[in-house]
Amino acid sequence: MDNFYKQGRGVWSPAPEVASSSVEGTNSAQADPVQALRQLSQPVFVIAKPSQWQKQSLPFTLVNHGQVRFPAQPARPTSGTVASDTTSGTNSNTANLCGPTAPNSSSTQNYPLLAMAPPVTPSTLGETDFRNTYGLKYACLSGSMANGIASEELVCSMAKAGMMGFFGSAGLSLEEVRQHIDSLQAKLEQPANSGVPVNQGRPQTAPAVLPHGFNLIHSPSDPQLEEKLVQLFIAKNVQNIEASAFLGLTPALLHYRYSGLKRNSDGTVYAPHHVFAKISRLEVAQKLLAPPPEDMLRNLVEAGKLTPQEAELAQGLPAASALTAEADSGGHTDNRPALGLIPAVINLRDRMREKYGWYVPVGAAGGIATPQAAAAAFAMGAAYVMTGSINQACQESGTCDVVRGMLAHATPADVMMAPAADMFEMGVNVQVLKWGTMFPVRARKLYEIYRTYPSFEQVPPNLQSQIERDFLRTSFQEAWQSTQAFFQKRDPRQIEKALRDPKHLMALVFRSYLGQASRWANAGVPERRADYQIWCGPAMGSFNQWCKGTFLADVKERHADLAALNIMAGAGYLTRTALIGSQGVKLPPQWCSFAPLPYQEIASLLQESSSVF
Ligand SMILES: Cc1cc2nc3c(=O)[nH]c(=O)nc-3n(C[C@H](O)[C@H](O)[C@H](O)COP(=O)(O)O)c2cc1C
Repeated sequence: MDNFYKQGRGVWSPAPEVASSSVEGTNSAQADPVQALRQLSQPVFVIAKPSQWQKQSLPFTLVNHGQVRFPAQPARPTSGTVASDTTSGTNSNTANLCGPTAPNSSSTQNYPLLAMAPPVTPSTLGETDFRNTYGLKYACLSGSMANGIASEELVCSMAKAGMMGFFGSAGLSLEEVRQHIDSLQAKLEQPANSGVPVNQGRPQTAPAVLPHGFNLIHSPSDPQLEEKLVQLFIAKNVQNIEASAFLGLTPALLHYRYSGLKRNSDGTVYAPHHVFAKISRLEVAQKLLAPPPEDMLRNLVEAGKLTPQEAELAQGLPAASALTAEADSGGHTDNRPALGLIPAVINLRDRMREKYGWYVPVGAAGGIATPQAAAAAFAMGAAYVMTGSINQACQESGTCDVVRGMLAHATPADVMMAPAADMFEMGVNVQVLKWGTMFPVRARKLYEIYRTYPSFEQVPPNLQSQIERDFLRTSFQEAWQSTQAFFQKRDPRQIEKALRDPKHLMALVFRSYLGQASRWANAGVPERRADYQIWCGPAMGSFNQWCKGTFLADVKERHADLAALNIMAGAGYLTRTALIGSQGVKLPPQWCSFAPLPYQEIASLLQESSSVF
């Protein structure tokens, strides 16, 4: 430590003779330095201890603004001594040792500053403009989860705590999505004079609603479905959508994004519809960050979906309002590592900003389950973080208690890739839980059979009977009957194709099993437990490890808002300890972790969050 001062790294006192007799008063920060770190909205200063304190274990102590107390009458109020309070003027024995005004105070110069951490609160993490644009208190979002697993309750829980969630509309019928939009807008509506900052995009006459959004999942096999959803979103004044699985721009996506564009009186463009595009590939990100293709805009004008004025304004606005870089995650994933993907997307964004002059915030998803992960994402430059897998394990999700319990057992290694129901023939995989279910192994087996044989009839008899007995639990023919009934409603063209091509028929029956496996899990069908398909990423195990031995190990205590607030508060805390560490001060390891806190404690820690609870 001596060397530290001699190197001149201490700001205020290169080689002090700290007058020990002057600092024998009570030091609250000394008693609980972690408390000083936890006051996230206060700067924290690491100062060298006077010599007699150094006999204790650590050669430094942590203080917040005004936390160190001194004797009313210092023994030697001379140069080299800390005098009584020179800054607050209220309490003569409270010295503002290292507060913002301290550098001007000669009385403090005997306390070398080893390091400092600025205020980092959950509401300062991420990008301020992003939070302001979307009316968020915290730059934390919850991602869509299909079949309503990202339920209304989940979306409300996030919105009411100052964050934003996307409802899991994928897999639901148009009518079901319509009902959820109406219901969520009613639940999140705020009184006219509530001061809710979010009304961007909605007509002046529409009531303010708390931030929320819906999923628009790309459906290459059914572009009509995509367009119908978009028309519904526009008709219902849905302000935010999470666009996922897109490989490029589609007419439906551009229709949503650019309808309603207007020129404001100050020359800026008013855009009522916001697209949070979730991507894991740079070539897709590039299309979303570039100006929209003119021919697509022209076609939309000719089809009467955009006005010529909207199409003209569209050329000055990228299709993505925000880009979520999704690393290895639950469900559909390219398994990209976050450390590689996030900087790559940010660097691409920056190049596109130089080229086109517009700035698109980049958020981070995939693996966000702990304060460490969120802090790392923000340190890399993420405008916001998005959670996914962990929300399925929360009480608000649209799954069942058995699944929540299974998720609580997962370690990061308890996940694997398995064939996806929606893109089965293309060989696309999804990441699922492997703990406590046979689904991933069975789904892989079905894909292997599909790849190997031209029809189910040509599958060896012993395999046929295994599939019928253990997987389908009915004859293949009966399974085909119920599969037909499903596709009759959803997409009758599939049946026509299957009747011409027995391999396609086999694929549809297998897809039907895969699709139902997710619904059995959500509904908690007991006799199908071995077949539960539970989309899940390694984030789940990471979260479980963090919660181990705490109240959050109990699934009944897991709530989406509580988990997110803890992750954000913890990210603020750990950012501060990391900043101190990066200035050369090694804090004790036990100060450098953040365990989850229950509602009451997190509310008091987040002083500013009191209005939320
Ligand atoms: C159960 C489950 C279902 C999901 N369904 C969808 C979906 O329908 N649409 C979508 O865009 N993302 C979906 N995702 C991805 C999440 O929105 C989120 O991006 C992802 O889970 C974040 O990564 P993480 O799982 O590592 O937290 C799903 C994820 C899970 C765990």
